[in-house]
Amino acid sequence: MTSTVHPTPVEAVRLADPYPFYARLVAERPFAFDEALGAWVAADAAAVRAVLGSGALRVRPVAEPVPAGIAGTAAGEVFGELVRMTDGAAAARLKGAVAGALARADLGRAAALAARYTREALARGGEVPYEELMFGVPARVVAALSGLTDGADREAARAIGDFVRCLPASATRDDHRAAATAATRLRELLGPALTAAATAPVPEPAAPSTPAPGPSAGGFASVAAYPAGQAGGLLRELVVAAERSGLPHPGPLLSNAIGFLSQTYDATAGLIGNTLVALARGADTPDTGALVREVVRYDAPVQNTRRFAAEPFTHAGSTVEPGQQLLVLLAAANRDPAVNPDPHALSPGRVNPVVFTFGAGAHRCPGGELATTLATAVVTELRTAGWSTTATPAYRPLANARIPLL
Ligand code: HEM
Repeated sequence: MTSTVHPTPVEAVRLADPYPFYARLVAERPFAFDEALGAWVAADAAAVRAVLGSGALRVRPVAEPVPAGIAGTAAGEVFGELVRMTDGAAAARLKGAVAGALARADLGRAAALAARYTREALARGGEVPYEELMFGVPARVVAALSGLTDGADREAARAIGDFVRCLPASATRDDHRAAATAATRLRELLGPALTAAATAPVPEPAAPSTPAPGPSAGGFASVAAYPAGQAGGLLRELVVAAERSGLPHPGPLLSNAIGFLSQTYDATAGLIGNTLVALARGADTPDTGALVREVVRYDAPVQNTRRFAAEPFTHAGSTVEPGQQLLVLLAAANRDPAVNPDPHALSPGRVNPVVFTFGAGAHRCPGGELATTLATAVVTELRTAGWSTTATPAYRPLANARIPLL
């Protein structure tokens, strides 16, 4: 039975209020080995920053780059090519392309689509379809930004829900099977969209803010600067950014196009849900965008992430040995009083907050702006429609995403 007095840092993710527990860790055990977890736990801002900044620590165990349950399946092939799940020079170049594409995502179009899909869902009447608003709408918008339309956006949104089932360490054989089927389907859906994005004609004139592309390294049709938001949108930007980085072939791009959807899915659902919980608990600012941005820090939808030591790593006098695992408590570090004054206050409009929710260092999330844009649009539409609730939610039984069951 889970104890709410002494939870593990993994159990804390789904407590109604994990923050007193995190605060004790920050104050008393900012970087320590947790026997129950069999892992080092980084809790304060200094430890989290050091861990995420270290090249000695990797996102996957050296001996198991792809989880055994999906190795050799389509899901395993996608997983093994994701920038999120790989380290090294090739991953860093790919990350540049992924981040370059997301930096040019058409946020205005994303907000307009999220608002429209939310209004359409609410117009059907009846109970508020939280599941659809939290998971379905953001995934559909990212699918639409990736060039999927006419129902393919909905299908991709459904399939990505199956694909992410393979990500937790607790995934079952059924989860692995569902993820493999979903990965195959997502490749079928996004493959032609990626090809179309790579071969689309180049319009005149190019957007003034776009640097000229570098020489082609082969593998793509010749691409050039392209105004954000046109023909193929996010995937076009991905192809352009990849060519600019001299990436040799399009293979990993398809996996990382699927990655746009998988990275959106749980995390953005959590941000929408946690913002609704903040409103239910009395947050009363009219500025929904400021509220969403503060909820990112105050009640992080991604509470923790993991690292695996490939080489020795020393912080604050403790040494992590190769092969050992680390749990990085992003949500605890967000409330470290050493970096954020009055950290337990929900203060929309907080000046220069230090926020770890989107990670830091080489694997820092490149989708933060898109995620807050989507969440703000969905919550704004709900508030405009007169939404209110006082319900105290339970949370999904997940190990790193904090997602209320509304
Ligand atoms: C509230 C929503 C989101 C949160 C809280 C979030 C959080 C994170 C975190 C913590 C990481 C780093 C993980 C680590 O270092 O171990 C990450 C990575 C990443 N995120 Fe997000 N994310 C969100 C939404 C998105 C969206 C909407 C996209 C794109 C459509 C996105 C794309 C990515 C990618 C591509 C990576 C991998 C980066 C790398 O490994 O270099 N994220 N995200």
